[in-house]
Amino acid sequence: MIRTGCPFIETHFGPAMTREDVAIRVLSCDPADMGALQHVLEHAPGYAERVTGAPPGAADAQSTFTVLPEGKSYEDKFVFGIFTGKEMVGCIDLIRSYPTANSATLGLLLVAEQHQGVGIGRQAFTLLEQFARGWGCEVIRLAVVMTNSEVISFWRKLGFSETGDMKPYTFVGRFWPGPGHGLPAQYVT
Ligand SMILES: CC(C)(COP(=O)(O)OP(=O)(O)OC[C@H]1O[C@@H](n2cnc3c(N)ncnc32)[C@H](O)[C@@H]1OP(=O)(O)O)[C@@H](O)C(=O)NCCC(=O)NCCS
Repeated sequence: MIRTGCPFIETHFGPAMTREDVAIRVLSCDPADMGALQHVLEHAPGYAERVTGAPPGAADAQSTFTVLPEGKSYEDKFVFGIFTGKEMVGCIDLIRSYPTANSATLGLLLVAEQHQGVGIGRQAFTLLEQFARGWGCEVIRLAVVMTNSEVISFWRKLGFSETGDMKPYTFVGRFWPGPGHGLPAQYVT
């Protein structure tokens, strides 16, 4: 199911919802950015537990930079920091032109737990959407691991809807009790 139509988008991205203190910036692999990214990931332990079955790992920032869908190159991979002022409070992983030329795939949008629930995730996505539109992107796609299904309400509020696709998911790298399932959803800008 794909949702189209501007009124719905206006409802969710209207000025009343805007947090002007939130910014996003593409991160580099330098030690400062990597350290801040690792700090953010370590401050969202609930996400790691739900998706991997273990607390955040010491190399999670590095993994965020290296994970790439088959057939894509790093020139289409963008890791963003989400900032309030100078502090990095979250991160985003986005793949340009995947799976199709006019789409992008969101690998992760994460806000550190102490900053969740105050509108940062919504505003960061609004900024990301503007960025992706600059590429000519018309669809943003993401998958929700079913053990993390509590976030589906968040995505619905931002205008996403389920595509009906379901793919097997197995976390590889740390202990994981068994295969779960992804619930991809698509959003038409
Ligand atoms: C999902 C996540 C990014 C949301 O970020 P956030 O900054 O807490 O969200 P916001 O405060 O901008 O919330 C926006 C809206 O979504 C709702 N929302 C946020 N998280 C929600 C949740 N877990 N369940 C239900 N609604 C939720 C808020 O209530 C708010 O609704 P409102 O505008 O009607 O008041 C954040 O919870 C997070 O980082 N989770 C861990 C990582 C993760 O699971 N990412 C998604 C991977 S697919």
